[in-house]
Amino acid sequence: MTDDTKPVPEARAKPAAKPAVLTGVKGMNDLLPADAHYWEMVDEAVRDWTRGYGYQQIRTPIVESTALFARGIGSATDIVEKEMYSFVDALNGEHLTLRPENTAGVVRSVIEHHLTYEGPRRLWYFGPMFRHERPQRGRYRQFHQIGIEAIGFEGPDIDAEVIAMAQRLWDDLGLDGLQLELNSIGDAGERLAHRAALIDYFEQHLDQLDDDSKRRLHANPMRILDSKNPALQTLIEAAPKPIDHLGTASRAHFEGLQQLLADLGIPYRLNPRLVRGLDYYNRTVFEWTTTMLGAQGTVCGGGRYDPLVEQMGGKSTPACGFAIGVERLIELLREQGEAVASAACSVYVVHQGQAAGRLAFRSAERLRDAGLDVILHCGGGSFKNQFKRADASGATLAVVIGEEEAARDEAAIKWLRSDKNDLTQHNVQQNVALADLPNTVLDALYRSNEEGHGLRS
Ligand code: HAM
Repeated sequence: MTDDTKPVPEARAKPAAKPAVLTGVKGMNDLLPADAHYWEMVDEAVRDWTRGYGYQQIRTPIVESTALFARGIGSATDIVEKEMYSFVDALNGEHLTLRPENTAGVVRSVIEHHLTYEGPRRLWYFGPMFRHERPQRGRYRQFHQIGIEAIGFEGPDIDAEVIAMAQRLWDDLGLDGLQLELNSIGDAGERLAHRAALIDYFEQHLDQLDDDSKRRLHANPMRILDSKNPALQTLIEAAPKPIDHLGTASRAHFEGLQQLLADLGIPYRLNPRLVRGLDYYNRTVFEWTTTMLGAQGTVCGGGRYDPLVEQMGGKSTPACGFAIGVERLIELLREQGEAVASAACSVYVVHQGQAAGRLAFRSAERLRDAGLDVILHCGGGSFKNQFKRADASGATLAVVIGEEEAARDEAAIKWLRSDKNDLTQHNVQQNVALADLPNTVLDALYRSNEEGHGLRS
């Protein structure tokens, strides 16, 4: 017999499975706070630098139609053949792609909005690009580029200007060890002659070509020249060079550029093998490389792309530009031990008690009104713990509002960063009426800066 009075034990509830930790997508990195100051420094440098040459910012969407890149970059390039994040929009069937680069997008926008209607344009951008490459140091699936596009200029002066710009950015950022490599790949007709010579040459060495190169032999033989396959390098080394097929105008353009670079004192190395991996280039091509970053040492690449505007449906318009890989640039800053001041706030407000908490909130806003950077302690806790946080924040001084200070409408100012030689001055606590707080703090920080206590300006 069963005993009905006995409580039936409840089925033991199974502990809910702990959700698995989700991780980011391979090759797509988080920009963590510890590195933010590098990015901010580059961001600021870029704003001053582009202004210094009269370039205007353009921001185009990250997603563009897939056809844009096939037409712009070239269907037989590595990027278009195997590196694009392309998808069909499930809602309307559109074929879309996360931009692998931004020259095609900028040219699309320039044409669509008639930006060169009133004359040439100097443009710049900074943003993420996406390429499905094998990730390694300096090579990511999401990376960032700073790009310069000068659209509507014909002569070698603009080529020299953009190259001088890059040189100035390295100087502004305190970078050295970057080498400029330069080449001219000629105009359409000259490229056709070079192409015929290349096909001829590679056909004679068909047995040495890999499958990729065989496939490209007739579609786009110049792409064989930037093959990374080590087994092909000797063959590529001896292949016909674009520079041997330059006509008078292309040669004069290239010489004009070299003259201007010599005038500016910008050193370069002629590299007849440099062809770049995108199809829109003609005449000048260049890269800045370093040996400090391992295999991915190209920090910046660019050149002229006179055919592109017309190829994208616009009126024939000459153009020139480059893009810098920002992750590589920052890695180089780090390699060269470029000291970057982290942007700590000046003031940390600690408080205890309800009335003090409300006053602290208002005081922090008044301090910000005065132009100060302020962290207000949130989440309570003992003064000891709040001071630990204040110290860790890197702030220069703490504003303290406890119950006693609140009752007197006052705050105390306490230095967090004391000069070891001057402990007396910097460890004292000073009480001040709340109404005078912003001025007193400003004054104290100013005086402290003047005295060279290493405080932020
Ligand atoms: P690009 O040579 O393909 O040119 O890229 C420019 C720079 O972007 C490279 O030199 C490198 O620093 C960086 N980069 C490229 N791929 C990656 C990657 N997977 N991970 C990290 N960094 C990378 C262009 O994109 C052209 N749109 C440049 C241009 C502008 N030409 C004329 N105007």
